[in-house]
Amino acid sequence: MKGTYPNEDRMHGSIFVLLKRFVESTYGHSTWVELLQESNVEHTAYLVQEMYPTHEIFAIISKLGEKTEQSVFELLEGYGEFIVPDLMMLYNKYLQPEWRTYDMLLNTEEAMHGAVRREDSRANPPKLLVIKKGSRQLIIEYYSKRRMAGVAIGIIKGIAKYFNESDVVDVMQLTPSDNERVQIKVDFLE
Ligand code: HEM
Repeated sequence: MKGTYPNEDRMHGSIFVLLKRFVESTYGHSTWVELLQESNVEHTAYLVQEMYPTHEIFAIISKLGEKTEQSVFELLEGYGEFIVPDLMMLYNKYLQPEWRTYDMLLNTEEAMHGAVRREDSRANPPKLLVIKKGSRQLIIEYYSKRRMAGVAIGIIKGIAKYFNESDVVDVMQLTPSDNERVQIKVDFLE
């Protein structure tokens, strides 16, 4: 959709730059170029320090879904998983060296999304409420009008992979993933 609207939701440029990296490395550079043309988005390039309309992410992902016969959810999840190493690098000054998946998830809201908001007041990452259920389970409540819980699930899996804990971290969505509010259960196996 072309044209800008004064109150439309926008997201941090890093999210778009990483979307490009995800598409290029998984499906090739020419797919990215085709997606920009065919999804009818306004921008032809994305810069980390800018903000861009959220609907452009959905336009690009939906078109990619048509091309690859995958659902928007699957693609958002794949994208979320893919971007973790880059997110960790971009925001690594807020990481504690002893953190693994469990502590990372417990601290994301305050340490990571908090830092994103403080560094750039235009950014508005989703609210994550992380509840400890004993020492081996976390319940993560995602809330965002953008309805991108697929990305959240992908990021959680990506964090487990980043710390080499994929085989001991089990991620399960408890409520439908296309809602504004989504509950995710994360179990830490022995
Ligand atoms: C390394 C830690 C993390 C960093 C540095 C990070 C950073 C960011 C940034 C910069 C944005 C864009 C915000 C905006 O433009 O308004 C974002 C969005 C998002 N983050 Fe995180 N994040 C991290 C961890 C997580 C985790 C653990 C989850 C899920 C449990 C998560 C879920 C999301 C989702 C779903 C979005 C998309 C926007 C939305 O749904 O409203 N993030 N994050």
